[in-house]
Amino acid sequence: MQRLLVTGGAGFIGSNFVHYILEHTNFHVTVLDKLTYAGNRESLKHLDGERLTFVQGDITDAVLVAELVRATDATVHYAAESHNDNSLHDPRPFLDTNIIGTYTLIEAARRYAKRYHHISTDEVYGDLELDDPERFTENTPYNPSSPYSSTKAGSDLLVRAWVRSFGLQATISNCSNNYGPYQHVEKFIPRQITNVIDGIRPKLYGNGQNVRDWIHANDHSSAVLAILEKGSIGETYLIGADGEKNNKEVVELILTHMGLPSDAYDHVIDRAGHDLRYAIDSTKLQTELGWTAQFSNFDAGIEDTIMWYCDNESWWRPQKAETEEKYKEQGQ
Ligand code: NAD
Ligand code: DAU
Repeated sequence: MQRLLVTGGAGFIGSNFVHYILEHTNFHVTVLDKLTYAGNRESLKHLDGERLTFVQGDITDAVLVAELVRATDATVHYAAESHNDNSLHDPRPFLDTNIIGTYTLIEAARRYAKRYHHISTDEVYGDLELDDPERFTENTPYNPSSPYSSTKAGSDLLVRAWVRSFGLQATISNCSNNYGPYQHVEKFIPRQITNVIDGIRPKLYGNGQNVRDWIHANDHSSAVLAILEKGSIGETYLIGADGEKNNKEVVELILTHMGLPSDAYDHVIDRAGHDLRYAIDSTKLQTELGWTAQFSNFDAGIEDTIMWYCDNESWWRPQKAETEEKYKEQGQ
């Protein structure tokens, strides 16, 4: 495997993966990205031009997708509409990109008998009670809550069906909440860091007790590479790094690291249908593929992420005002 097609490679996790692959392998990477509001060409700047080809295009464009899938050895599919809040206000792009886009890619991978890896989310499993001793495993039944997570669940099921019915050479991974550089300012952690930089109080949805299972984007990348190289066809792997924290704890940590009182935030209107808790059991990935997380210190990871946003204002500044304006209209 020498030539990878990475969809959504100008987005948050996709761009971190491209950086990781260029640093840790000798693969050539072709990025296919539509550059929606969430894609940023700047996230790939300074990378080796000889080993990286950038194509601006839509994953629902069957002719373009077929050409790129045919010319590469494997596809890693990150491209998606990814933000739950947006999916509550305008679900249609989620159906087009997450469902039809995935269908278009797996049809091409089937036609040319190419390896395909599908990036998905722990949100397909719904949510857990705060005191539930169980965590999500590969056997947890699907029970998505939002338009976003239901389209991701639908796309996973398409991949499973293509494996069984057509022998698609596919693997699937479902990962927990990522943090790190290059994440859009609409998302929780970058929103609060850049709010503090701008002198705006962080905004906590509801009572702030909702739990997310945080993993550094680099740990997600190393897990995906392990699955690409050693995973068994047809299998699903859950990716997580034992990083459960409630949102209040995360906001307090950000405020403290940024030199403000830990209670200097506002409570705002809760998200409709807000999932209470996600938690991943990644035993299968660890025992079968020998993967372990490297970024286990969340406190240090948050400090690095704060520093990245302080040092890279030109990267996020163009999106900030519009993003906050949208939240303001929604009372959030
Ligand atoms: P993102 O919104 O930051 O990036 C998505 C990228 O896809 C953007 O560059 C965008 O331009 C591109 N894109 C959107 N529609 C497209 C289309 N029709 N054709 C081509 N490109 C298109 O998303 P992210 O947070 O980096 O998430 C990437 C993937 O990882 C998604 O599949 C998401 O479901 C999954 N995931 C995300 C997380 C997380 O915490 N962010 C956790 C688990 C899984
Ligand atoms: O679990 C994986 C998922 O993580 C991915 O599939 C999604 O693509 C990704 O966006 C993320 O979804 P969440 O909805 O968990 O992430 P978000 O950053 O939007 O919110 C994290 C938590 O913080 C959630 O409980 C809502 C809350 N929140 C969010 C924002 C933007 C706030 O309290 N205040 C905010 O301003």
